[in-house]
This record gives sequence, C-alpha cells and structure tokens, in this order.
Amino acid sequence: MRGIILAGGRGTRLLPATGVISKQLLPVYDTPMIFHPMALLMSAGVREILLISTPDNLGAFSALFEDGSQLGISVSYAAQAEPRGIAEALIIADDFAAGGPVTLALGDNIFLGGATAQLLRNAFHRPVGATLFATPVANPQAFGIVALNSAGEALSIEEKPRNPKSSYAVTGLYVYDGTAAAIAASIKPSARGELEITDVNNAYLAGSKVFVETLPQSETWFDTGTPDSLLEASLKVRKLETETGRKIACLESIALGAGWITPDAVRAAAQRWSGSAYGRALEREATVAHALERS
Ligand code: TTP
Repeated sequence: MRGIILAGGRGTRLLPATGVISKQLLPVYDTPMIFHPMALLMSAGVREILLISTPDNLGAFSALFEDGSQLGISVSYAAQAEPRGIAEALIIADDFAAGGPVTLALGDNIFLGGATAQLLRNAFHRPVGATLFATPVANPQAFGIVALNSAGEALSIEEKPRNPKSSYAVTGLYVYDGTAAAIAASIKPSARGELEITDVNNAYLAGSKVFVETLPQSETWFDTGTPDSLLEASLKVRKLETETGRKIACLESIALGAGWITPDAVRAAAQRWSGSAYGRALEREATVAHALERS
C-alpha cells in the first residue's frame, strides 16, 4: 500500500503561528505535527510515502525526512501549487499511485490511542471502494458528516451540514481503490473553489462502495487546525507519554519494531536529536535493542 500525506493548505486559523512556517511543522507537544500521520502510516506497514505540501514548505519537509531511508521507508515529495482542495492530492499523486490503491492522511489529523493503525491495515485488504474512518463529535456542523444505518453502512455524506443527520465526523484518513484519481479529476470545484474530498466520497457512495470504520471509544481524534485543538492535542500527548513512559509518534521506534532499521540507525537518529527527551528515548531504545541482539 502506498500512502499520501497532505501537508499543504493555508493554515489561516493558526495565523500568525503559520505566517512563515507550515502548520504541519508546528509542535504537538514534543514532535512536529507531521510525525503523527507519518507514524500512523508506518504503524500500518506503509513504506512508500508521497508528501504533498506548498512549494514554499517542501524544502523544510525534505530536510526533515530526506529520502526516508534512515527510517527504512521511501519518502518522495510533490508540490500543490495552490490549496485547491484535499481531493487534488489524489490527482497530484496519480503517477505515484500507479493505478493501485492508496491511503491518504491529512497532515493535521492526529489519532491517539493506537487503534487506528490496525483499522487501517484491515482496510488495506478491501479490493474495491473507499474506506472512511468516523468518530462522533460535539459540533457536527464543522465537519464532513456521515450518516450510518443500524448495520454501520453509510447512507449519506455531507460537508459541514447545517442540519446534521448524525454526529459522526469523517476524519482525515482515507483508503481508496485505484479509481480515486479518475474520480477526483471528474469532480467540479465547490462554491469555495476547492475540489472537495466529500465529493469524491459521495461518488464512491453512489456506487455503494463506501465502507466506514468507526473508531473505538479508546481512540481520540484531533483535527489540530485551531489554537485550542492544537493545545488539547499537545496536552493529551503529554498525558499519554507521562502515563506510559513511552514516546508517541516515535518514528525510529516504529521502524525498529517493524525490522526496517537497525539499532545503529536508531542511535544515529538519537545523535541527530541529542539534547532532547526524544533523543534520549531513542538512545535508550538503541541500547536495549543492542543488548537484545547480543543475548
Ligand atoms: P484545512 O484545515 O481544511 O485547511 P488549512 O490547513 O488550509 O487551514 P485553514 O482552514 O485554517 O486555512 O486542511 C486540512 C488538511 O489538508 C491540512 O493538513 C492542510 C491540507 N490541505 C492541503 O494540503 N491542500 C488543500 O488544498 C487543502 C484544502 C488542505
């Protein structure tokens, strides 16, 4: 499975914090926001990743992730010239997807609790259609909302409905079969001038090909596009890290656990980030892994 991380956009609601830096490079507690979708895709076993951002910000992302080999993955980059909508990512990624299925993760969506990666893996086994990941929210007027029947099947998907038919928000994580780019290319821009991902999802729904996974209660989803949600996500990460004693969105740890990199690569990353708690966590992880290798 190939993965797209969409990390462009305007970041208007976070100005002036996003005045000269991409939203997805702002910290969620102790790591750049982009580590979260990267960690999610890696945890689901995705090793080929296309990162899409604005022309101005691509350099910073590639300085951060390079070609991905230090994480045992492949990261390539593409620019979205203007924020013309989330669905445009599928068109930009057409060559990358090479006619196969893709998963699309928005760079500012964060899933905490550890359950989403397994749901994502399950979705990779579906040969056709689109899989959406939904969770109840208190303010459904602010999101794409999916109505479900008693069997959990999608009945309708509406973008920011005035009279929501359900409280289930469609989160920024999608799995599509090989027809997604063609569908995205066939839809027209909305009144706000964007190619809407909801329109792509509705095209799938018209063919009865939408599957909806609802996140378990243990999972917390954040769309970190506002100062409040960014702060709440940071506080939640700090709480979870304090409770478990483990770093969240620790990319090298995921790669090591998957057998994609060696303890030496973890140690090299520890040196890159030395002086930080993240670097120290990597140093400890490398030491334990070396000891296990020797035993
Ligand atoms: P949004 O939060 O909807 O938009 P934004 O990031 O531009 O923020 P604001 O509304 O405050 O101006 O975008 C959701 C995610 O998708 C986010 O990670 C940015 C990304 N995105 C793009 O990369 N390109 C786009 O054309 C759009 C609309 C969003």
